[in-house]
Amino acid sequence: MYEASETHALTCSYEDVWLIAGVRTPFADYMSVLSDISPTDLGIHAARALLARTGIAPRDVGTIIAGNMAQSSFDAYYLPRHIGLYSGVPLGVPALLVHRLCGTGFETILTAADQIALGKAKLALCVGAESMSRNPVAAYTHRGGFRLGQIEFKDFLWESTRDTASNTLMGDTAENLAQRYGITREEVDRFAAESFARAIKAWDGGFYQGEVEPVINQQWPLEGYQARGIRLPRNVERFERDEHVRPSPYDVLRKLRPAFRPDGVQTGGNSSAIVDGAAAVLVASGEYVRAHGLKPLARVIAGATVGVPPEIMGIGPAPAIRAVVKKAGLKLDDVARFDINEAFGAQYLAVEKELALDRAKVNVNGGAIAIGHPLAASGVRLTTTVARELRRTNSEYGISSACAGGGQGIAILLKNAA
Ligand SMILES: CC(C)(COP(=O)(O)OP(=O)(O)OC[C@H]1O[C@@H](n2cnc3c(N)ncnc32)[C@H](O)[C@@H]1OP(=O)(O)O)[C@@H](O)C(=O)NCCC(=O)NCCS
Repeated sequence: MYEASETHALTCSYEDVWLIAGVRTPFADYMSVLSDISPTDLGIHAARALLARTGIAPRDVGTIIAGNMAQSSFDAYYLPRHIGLYSGVPLGVPALLVHRLCGTGFETILTAADQIALGKAKLALCVGAESMSRNPVAAYTHRGGFRLGQIEFKDFLWESTRDTASNTLMGDTAENLAQRYGITREEVDRFAAESFARAIKAWDGGFYQGEVEPVINQQWPLEGYQARGIRLPRNVERFERDEHVRPSPYDVLRKLRPAFRPDGVQTGGNSSAIVDGAAAVLVASGEYVRAHGLKPLARVIAGATVGVPPEIMGIGPAPAIRAVVKKAGLKLDDVARFDINEAFGAQYLAVEKELALDRAKVNVNGGAIAIGHPLAASGVRLTTTVARELRRTNSEYGISSACAGGGQGIAILLKNAA
């Protein structure tokens, strides 16, 4: 199915583009410990930590590609630029904001790969940052005043999950997939319980410590400009572990009430958690890698982006994954590990059924149901995680992928560089 999506897929393969390393913040629950911190500052934190961990000089960065969806601070327009400036990247290096809804984080990496392949830059700093908590309560029609009783301030976070073309909430698109693919509430809850269990195991086993940089209070002075920094709530000195990851057995999840339809399968426990956080990766040309004797995590082999019907947007990863595998001349069976965003449990399960995926290869360290889905940060996180998982298991090929609201899918194919 979805041949049309594959026919129109936007694909590209790369000869000599490398994912050096990735770092992210721990993800905090909605309205919790990171809710006073702007996405720009979360992004700066991730970027600085990445540069510090890799020892790569900020002055080497030749392009900044940042992703962010909700404009959740008054200086939101400057997010990519400020991430660059306060990470120590030279003032002359330009910064771009990209936006492909939940595909945004992936898009930062593919845009960087394009720029590198075109010879525009040798080293790219890619950052996805999202504060779901600071989504504005907004009105679009009141600049000129309002008529008596007709005030229209609304919750942007909630309203923006409705695609007004198909008039479906994102959650409803997952319910539509559950109906089409015959997915039951029990299947979704059992899958969600597994997502939590896998994430707990990965944290307890030390896997995520390798990509998560704890958030602490800090100041970033910048000569000639205003300092900025991070200030955690008064009683918190350090935030170091994904907050939403907690024991969530099937017997607890099965009792939660449906969130979108009275007889629906999606609940607050088996949908992606709403969290705040940021993630950063460095993408480089082979020339840069070899000149500096770097040991990258993975080679970026190919990327694919597709369109799918808006009312079943969550199926997007299926044609995107097929397209990226085809572009690389591989078969699905050649891929050892997948990290596919769990926007909703039924959405992931529909993709799994469509591609006949072996769950033992997918989201083995848990997914967004447990870890959370800070929209623009997710693609950067998923790509880092799958690359690190390839390294951990000494596997060859891995794919990161997600669906995107409005009806899109995106996928990146990596090859372990070890
Ligand atoms: C599904 C959704 C609407 C639920 O929102 P919500 O109702 O505010 O969710 P909550 O976190 O309050 O969870 C609902 C209930 O389930 C409980 N719950 C949630 N996760 C749980 C878990 N892991 N274990 C036990 N209970 C849990 C909550 O405690 C809450 O219980 P209460 O009603 O007694 O307080 C929201 O999570 C959502 O929209 N997620 C998807 C976001 C999205 O669309 N992203 C873009 C994708 S394209």
